[in-house]
Amino acid sequence: MAYPYQIQSKEQYDAHYRESVENPEGFWAEVAGHFQWHKPWEKVLDWSFEEPRIEWFRGGRLNITENCLDRHLEQQGDRPAIIWEPNDPGSEGLTLSYRQLLDKVMQLCHVLRRNGVQKGDRVCIYMGMVPELAIATLACARIGAIHSIVFGGFSARSITDRLEDAQAAFVITADGAHRGNKAIPLKSVIDEALEQCAFVKKVIVLRHTGTAISMKEGRDCYWDEEVKQVAAAGKPFFPAESMDAEDPLFILYTSGSTGKPKGVVHTCGGYMVYASYSFVNVFQYQPGDVYFCTADIGWITGHSYIVYGPLLAGATTLIFEGIPTWPDAGRFWDIVDKHRVNILYTAPTAIRSLMSFGTEPIEGHDLSSLKVLGSVGEPINEEAWQWFHEHIGKGRCPLVDTWWQTENGGILISNLAGVTPAIPTFATLPLPGIQPVLVDEKGAPAQPVKQEDGSSITSGNLCIRFPWPGMFRTTYGDHERFRQNYFAAYPGLYFSGDGCYRDDKGNYRITGRVDDVLNVSGHRIGTAEVENAINSDPSVIESAIVGYPHDIKGQGVYAFVVCDPEHTPGEEARKAILQTVTHLIGAIAKPDKIQFVSGLPKTRSGKIMRRILRKIAEGALDSLGDTSTLLDPGVVEEIKAGRV
Ligand code: WTA
Repeated sequence: MAYPYQIQSKEQYDAHYRESVENPEGFWAEVAGHFQWHKPWEKVLDWSFEEPRIEWFRGGRLNITENCLDRHLEQQGDRPAIIWEPNDPGSEGLTLSYRQLLDKVMQLCHVLRRNGVQKGDRVCIYMGMVPELAIATLACARIGAIHSIVFGGFSARSITDRLEDAQAAFVITADGAHRGNKAIPLKSVIDEALEQCAFVKKVIVLRHTGTAISMKEGRDCYWDEEVKQVAAAGKPFFPAESMDAEDPLFILYTSGSTGKPKGVVHTCGGYMVYASYSFVNVFQYQPGDVYFCTADIGWITGHSYIVYGPLLAGATTLIFEGIPTWPDAGRFWDIVDKHRVNILYTAPTAIRSLMSFGTEPIEGHDLSSLKVLGSVGEPINEEAWQWFHEHIGKGRCPLVDTWWQTENGGILISNLAGVTPAIPTFATLPLPGIQPVLVDEKGAPAQPVKQEDGSSITSGNLCIRFPWPGMFRTTYGDHERFRQNYFAAYPGLYFSGDGCYRDDKGNYRITGRVDDVLNVSGHRIGTAEVENAINSDPSVIESAIVGYPHDIKGQGVYAFVVCDPEHTPGEEARKAILQTVTHLIGAIAKPDKIQFVSGLPKTRSGKIMRRILRKIAEGALDSLGDTSTLLDPGVVEEIKAGRV
């Protein structure tokens, strides 16, 4: 057996699941015992969803990077840890063995220390998909600093917000990034963000694209020059900081239904145990396999399943800098072929976008190395599931549909590749340790409803009733928000914000968000955030954002906008709005459709009736329901007529 906690059969899954519910502390203590700890924990679990407070492995001390790196040296120091595939298939990639990766991480630890980084400091990382992004992440973890990675597509303003919220005094970035045929500026965006952040003391800059940038004396330094200094001082080893299991490991900002993005906080011990446990079980990783997750490290999927999960398991993880469709739509298949990829984990939006090119780009690529396929980020529709399974997996690779969230740290509901059955469009069964419940609007357990074929289906809001080691512990600097957002709707339960149904065999099918969060190309976008951005445009009075079905993105962003009577809404106003959103949030939040309206449908108490707007955006014009209670029912007719 490759890993002592790797489930081998459906029977074993059932047994482990049962044990994890009956004796959660014993179950997780056994898993955690397979990691390296400086000091054993005093208490496995202490929790209350009422307060809320969650503590795992209290008193235990460890460093996650020793478990990701040092621990593997003896057995497999020369095995590849990271394979880096550059954006341009013509340029040279890089492979780092476990030993080389550890050396590079320790070098950067020395650099961080030289620049004043101490345990507990927040370090913002804003980079493209280069190996140095993983190195920077691990160096922070080794030194005990809290990393806050910001996806390379976010705007200066979004970075400022995150830097301020985390009070991060250090930034690690690069001159720029390559993505397809685009050169993405990074350092200049950081410069703009830092105009508002005088508290940032140091910026470490990786030279990657060679783009011209400016460097601020005393604040900015080059990664390579710093490493040279460290090497000249001849101090190769950097001891890992001893962390309490409950010390924060990282902050990752994510959108919610209200206000600004919140900083989801994960801690060292529980996150480590869960990232590793879920990785080896869901993907059924075997030593020597080459594993390729196409997410960006700037999202939780990249944190848990490009960096930490795979490295904890001593796996070979492939980091790809580019995009699936450049230089052509065969890029993923080219990579699978070239590196003999065994496990491929991607998103429905990528699959749908590649499907639209037909099967020709697949031809000529040998995909026979593939053993397991995975999907994450949004509900996968039947067509995409079948296409992926048939044309990429050639009908012989188990496909795992993995449901989870930034807040969860790791996969919560998924089939285990080849071990528990797959059902197209179903995430299927909870992992051991995960206790889902479906509740109705009032929080009562949802009741099964008999179907015509005699089976029954239970449908409701998806909650979890018991903590698991990988769950988040707070929202940074605002524990009350943590309580309000996740534990207040249904007392005693963690509420995911997703709708879901369960068949009578216990299989779960996620139907999508039930709150005001959109899922666009697998990215979480808060409607309130986009509305605030649009409303800040001087020509705009108010706006409402809803999602609508989009062939490739899953959901598209539909904006209803009311303009100031002095501004004639038109092409110029549209462009200005798109620019404002890109400037304030980032291109990922740009509306796909903008409709100018003279007013929004509101209740007499002034609440925007999003339900009606959603129906109009979807094109379900005949099923708007009762509109007579609206303040101005006439506006609905106007909006219907002007639908774009
Ligand atoms: C959605 C990404 C259906 C869901 C790991 C969730 C999914 C949100 C799936 C979290 C899936 C993720 N099936 N929906 N397999 N995976 N989602 O925080 O709505 O970026 O709440 O985490 O994505 O997005 P996040």
